[in-house]
Amino acid sequence: MVKITVRVSLGKDSYDIKISYDFLSSLGKEVSKLGYSSKAVVITNTTIADLYKNKIIESLNAGNIESITLVVPDGEKYKSLKTASFLYDKLIESHIRRNNPLIAFGGGVVGDLAGFVAATYMRGIPLIQVPTTLLAQVDSSVGGKVAVNHPLGKNMIGCFYQPKLVFIDTDILKTLPLREYRAGLAEVIKYGFIQSKELLELLDNSPDKILNKENDVLLKVIAKCCEIKARIVEEDEKDFGKRAILNYGHTIGHAIESLTKYKKLLHGEAISIGMAAAANIACQMKLIDAAVVEKHKKILTSFGLPIKIPQKITLEEILERIKLDKKKKQETESLVLLKKIGEAEVFEVPKELIAQALENTR
Ligand SMILES: NC(=O)c1ccc[n+]([C@@H]2O[C@H](COP(=O)([O-])OP(=O)(O)OC[C@H]3O[C@@H](n4cnc5c(N)ncnc54)[C@H](O)[C@@H]3O)[C@@H](O)[C@H]2O)c1
Repeated sequence: MVKITVRVSLGKDSYDIKISYDFLSSLGKEVSKLGYSSKAVVITNTTIADLYKNKIIESLNAGNIESITLVVPDGEKYKSLKTASFLYDKLIESHIRRNNPLIAFGGGVVGDLAGFVAATYMRGIPLIQVPTTLLAQVDSSVGGKVAVNHPLGKNMIGCFYQPKLVFIDTDILKTLPLREYRAGLAEVIKYGFIQSKELLELLDNSPDKILNKENDVLLKVIAKCCEIKARIVEEDEKDFGKRAILNYGHTIGHAIESLTKYKKLLHGEAISIGMAAAANIACQMKLIDAAVVEKHKKILTSFGLPIKIPQKITLEEILERIKLDKKKKQETESLVLLKKIGEAEVFEVPKELIAQALENTR
């Protein structure tokens, strides 16, 4: 069995990301190697519990780990202080102490919520991330950002709390709905554009294998993304500098996501449109040429991702959402743009240029 390990080097907070397929049965042994208490808590959601609960318990048993499983409802709205509070009650009732590992088994929602609970319960208990969506495997499980939402904003209450291990089984993606999988691919494509020409070529050359979730290519792609994220996090753990480039496509993507009330588009789909718009902006700024804009369109559409701003959204609405005042003449917005394939930077972009490029993204 091929197994890839990517190390995230953060001094005493360093950890491994272990990636393989047909791997879930080894989770117990991997957790046991970390040397914490032999009683663990698994936090997951209803959808994932239906599919994997027995397998998780079996695997933990095989590593001589006794476990309790706490199941929360499925959905972003449950990434809340209310759900966290429910989980704290259960942890106290189950006599969970500071040496009991907490396993976050799920997509980004479960990872962020369970990570936040691990970070705050008894001032922090060991966290193990077992991401089950592509987005979580290549992005949210690595880097230590954990949070819950507040009614007034997403991820408003959170902290940085690095896991002790990220355990990735690519086979788990087989049950992930195709639309969710494609949305995760938007983040994968993002890594290619901002940091790796080699990854972008791999994506460009094998869309069918990747869409078919073939393990050999998936392993390479996920490992490359984790490596890119690990190196960026090592350079800028607390998000004061280099980590910003991970927001490629996100400023306009977030605006579109919120203007469609988080209902019409998945996060990755909105980011895909955001990247197409960012490519148009970079082209207007003469940072990249039209061929790179075309490359965005080709790769994003080959994975079934959208590249056009929905007709119902007006230019004014987007500008307002990214806080550009349509009445003021001179205004700029900081945006992550490409200088070339594999290299991104934050630029101050004049409003007029953004407006023109957004018109070209319809
Ligand atoms: N911490 C970070 O750095 C970071 C980065 C990006 C996004 N996020 C957060 O991630 C969240 C989005 O995560 P997501 O896209 O993974 O969504 P998600 O966690 O809601 O998962 C999407 C859907 O897929 C289901 N699912 C998950 N794994 C499955 C599997 N293997 N088989 C079948 N169904 C499965 C889930 O139950 C859910 O219905 C957001 O809350 C976002 O804020 C965090």
